[in-house]
Formats: sequence, structure tokens, C-alpha cells
Amino acid sequence: MRAVSANLLAWLLFCTCACVFYVWNRLEGSRLDRFTRGPQSLRRESRHAGGPPLDLSVQTFRALLTVPSAQRLRLGDGGLYVRNLTDVKEQTGTSGSRDDRINVDAEESAQRGGSDLVSLVEEGIFWSGRLEEQLPVSFSEGHARAWRERARGQRVVKLEPGCGRVSNQLATFWDGTKVCVRYGINAEQVQGETLTYYLAGLLGITNVPPLVLSQLNPDSEQWGDVRRHAARLQWSDWAVVSLTEWVANLTAVVTPEPLRQNSEGLRPLPGELGNYTTGELLELMQWTDLILLDYLSANFDRLVSNMFSLQWDARVMERETNNLLRTPRGDLVFVDNEAGLVHGFRVLDMWEKYHGAVLGSVCVFRRRTAQRVLELHRRRDTRTRLLELYGDSEPLSPELGFLSDEHARVLQTRIDRVHRHISHCKGKYQQLGSVTV
Ligand SMILES: Nc1ncnc2c1ncn2[C@@H]1O[C@H](COP(=O)(O)OP(=O)(O)OP(=O)(O)O)[C@@H](O)[C@H]1O
Ligand SMILES: *[C@@H]1O[C@H](CO)[C@@H](O)[C@H](O)[C@H]1NC(C)=O
Ligand SMILES: *[C@@H]1O[C@H](CO)[C@@H](O)[C@H](O)[C@H]1NC(C)=O
Ligand SMILES: *[C@@H]1O[C@H](CO)[C@@H](O)[C@H](O)[C@H]1NC(C)=O
Ligand SMILES: [Mg+2]
Repeated sequence: MRAVSANLLAWLLFCTCACVFYVWNRLEGSRLDRFTRGPQSLRRESRHAGGPPLDLSVQTFRALLTVPSAQRLRLGDGGLYVRNLTDVKEQTGTSGSRDDRINVDAEESAQRGGSDLVSLVEEGIFWSGRLEEQLPVSFSEGHARAWRERARGQRVVKLEPGCGRVSNQLATFWDGTKVCVRYGINAEQVQGETLTYYLAGLLGITNVPPLVLSQLNPDSEQWGDVRRHAARLQWSDWAVVSLTEWVANLTAVVTPEPLRQNSEGLRPLPGELGNYTTGELLELMQWTDLILLDYLSANFDRLVSNMFSLQWDARVMERETNNLLRTPRGDLVFVDNEAGLVHGFRVLDMWEKYHGAVLGSVCVFRRRTAQRVLELHRRRDTRTRLLELYGDSEPLSPELGFLSDEHARVLQTRIDRVHRHISHCKGKYQQLGSVTV
């Protein structure tokens, strides 16, 4: 009898979750439908062309019950990131470029008598200083400061598509500089975008394009020229929007094989890391920052939403990752962080198991990022430090507001959890010391 009522309770709970999810999804859908669908949304659909359409009706959701959990679904092999030994050996020998094979495998370094060992990982879990030195810094602190000073208050002379949804526009300043303007349907979107930018700053992560806020003052010199256009876009006067640096020639990024769901994860083992080119390792290094940032901000709109889609689109991991782009030089650019910190924390119950799985798949970290997490964990002052940085850097911070006390606590808890995960990896791999190949 007790078992029956427990089952009944579980079933009722499930039905409630399904309903909540359904309603939530409809809300998200209608939010987008309020705007004319631009070329971006068409592209997004074509990306899913291989699988069934993304119709999250209740039926679809119920059908998911019969599918094994996301973790167990098998994917086609990724190819790009995992090379077999033949492939590796064929490519060794080219030199001079960033794409040099730094190595091969233990056998080959043994053959070379270990005379030119190359360090990949130090102290078990940190990307080596040698790799760190080669990492391109996408948006250095100096660059970001200069960009923000220049961008603040600049006159906008043109708005056009080119930054995603119709609510987001590619703007041109009078001096020809281009920026993406993000208009949030809710304040929480612009808050998420902005606070995630500053959280990345706090962690020393430089892949998020510089950002300033601006208020749509129709009488200002800044917005006067495009006033009518803004009205056609249904942008309300006095709304606070974000302006981010526009970057030329960005291309799509596919999730590397070790970070996909059927993989063992990214582990600091010579037999695994030794298979990559320097270029690939430098990209993986940026991915490790991305995963910590997205875990901390509970941003579900990159890896996690793909993992969720695995349930009906088994090949989704082979498609481009949402909201992540690459420069021709190989820097990853983390765009569209509006799901972070605010929206992401609000819907945490639904996504947390995926967030946890993604975090758990990585046991190699950038030393600086891990150090910053450690400091924020020890001092327990994430809220204060984030508010200080944001308040000092952004004159419009009082207009946009900050995290609620509850969300600030959630953020501190996530810092603590990331710290615990890093310690766990350290316990597991420290005895390996440095990984050289
Ligand atoms: N800073 C940027 N520099 C250059 N291009 C950008 C930038 N930000 C966005 N874009 C372009 O706009 C596209 C969509 O950006 P974004 O994710 O920010 O908007 P979105 O409205 O959420 O769109 P989507 O729904 O397609 O994700 C990107 O894939 C990219 O092509
Ligand atoms: C890397 O190469 C080694 C030896 O060539 C192979 O045994 C191993 O499976 C490879 N690792 C991955 C992750 O493919
Ligand atoms: C390894 O790579 C080579 C060259 O790319 C390819 O010809 C070969 O079939 C691959 N072997 C395996 C086992 O995948
Ligand atoms: C972008 O690509 C175009 C065309 O290939 C090239 O002319 C331009 O210099 C590139 N810009 C940057 C910033 O890389
Ligand atoms: Mg987006």
C-alpha cells in the first residue's frame, strides 16, 4: 500500500513538473513570437533539421519517458577532437604554427629519450604555464576598459539585423564602430547579461565581449538619430539595454568530444591530452573556463540546453553550440549570457542535474580561475566583490539593479561547490604531478 502511494506521489510530482515545464516553455515561445522572426531564428531551426522538430508538447515530453536518460544516450563519434595514433603520427613534423602537435604518446617520448618532454598539466589538474603563455587573450582588461570608455554615450547612427533575434540589433556608432545592442524583454535578461560579464571579470575570464549599459533616452544625442527605428522595434523609452563589442568573422563552435555526454570527460591524463594539437588544447583550456562560468551562473543556454535536447535529437552535440563563437585566431567568444545568474537561478530546479553533470566532466582547470574560485570560497564575499566591481564600473548599475539576496546566496553556494569539485579532482589526480608527453 505504501509503495502504491509512493508511486502515485511520484507520478503526480512528475505530472506537475511536466505541466510547469509545458507552461514555462509556452511562455518562452510566446516571448519570441512577439517579434518578427528574423534570419537568425530560421538558421536556428535549420540547425535542428536532422532531428524531429523542437515541439515540446506534452506528448513529446511524455514520450521522453521511454528514452534512456541523456547520460546513457550514445552519439555518433565526434571525429574532430579525437585522433587515432596513425593520424597523430602523420601530422607530427609540421612545425612553427600554433597547430603543432605538441606530442604524441608516452611511447614516442620514450623513443626520444624523454629529452624534449612537453608539459601539459601541472600539479595534477592545472593547464601548464607553457600552454597558458600561448593562450590568446580575447578581451584583455586594458582593451575592455578602453572599449568601454569609448563606447559609453557614443552616438548611434544605424540599427540593423546582425546580432540575433530582432530584439537585438547591430548598431553602428558615428565613428563606424559596431556593437550589439541587447534589448531585454524582461529586466532579468539584461541583468543576466551584465552581471555574467562582471562575474567573468571577477574570475579573470576574458572571453566575454566588453559591455556597457545605456538607457534609451529618446531626447539624448546618443539615441536621437535612430529614435524612429527604435520605436518600430518596440523598444520602450528609458529601457536599459546592453551594448557589447561586435567582433568580425566569428564562426560556429562544436562541443569537443571529451565534453560530450557519452565521453569520459576531460581528464588530466597523458594518454588523453597527448592526442591533441596545441591549437586544440588551447581551445579546450578556454572550454574549461566556459564550463566553470556557466556552472556558476547556471547558464543553461549553451552546453546544458544541448544536453537536454539529446533526448529527442541524438546528434545535437555534433551541431554548433548555442551562444558560443570562435575568432579566426582561435579565441572563443562567449556571447549572449542573458540566461545567466538571474533567469538561470530562477529555473535551477529544472536544469541543475545537467549543470552538475557538465561540471563533473572537467578535471583540468586554469590555475588563475581556480585560484579566484578558492579566494571567493574562503572569503565568502562573492556578493560584495561582484557588487563592487559592477557598481564601480557601470554608472547605470543603480538603474538596472543587482542580484537579490537569495540569488547572491545561490551564487556563493555554487562557488563553494565548484571549489569542492576542484579539490575532488586534486585529490584524484595530484599524485600524477605534472603531465608531460
Ligand atoms: N559580439 C558579437 N559580435 C559579432 N557577432 C555577434 C555578437 N553577438 C552576437 N553575434 C551574432 O549574432 C548571433 C546571435 O547572437 P545572440 O545569441 O547574442 O542573439 P540571440 O538573439 O540570442 O540569437 P539566437 O536566438 O540565435 O541565439 C550570433 O550567433 C552571432 O552571429
Ligand atoms: C589517445 O591515443 C592513445 C594512444 O594512441 C589511445 O590509446 C587513446 O585511446 C587515445 N585517447 C583518446 C581519448 O582517444
Ligand atoms: C586512423 O586515422 C587514419 C588516418 O586519418 C585512418 O586512415 C584510419 O582508418 C584511422 N584508424 C582508425 C582505427 O580509426
Ligand atoms: C574578416 O574577414 C575579411 C574577409 O576575409 C577580411 O578582409 C577582414 O580583414 C577580416 N577581419 C578581421 C578583423 O579578421
Ligand atoms: Mg542566443
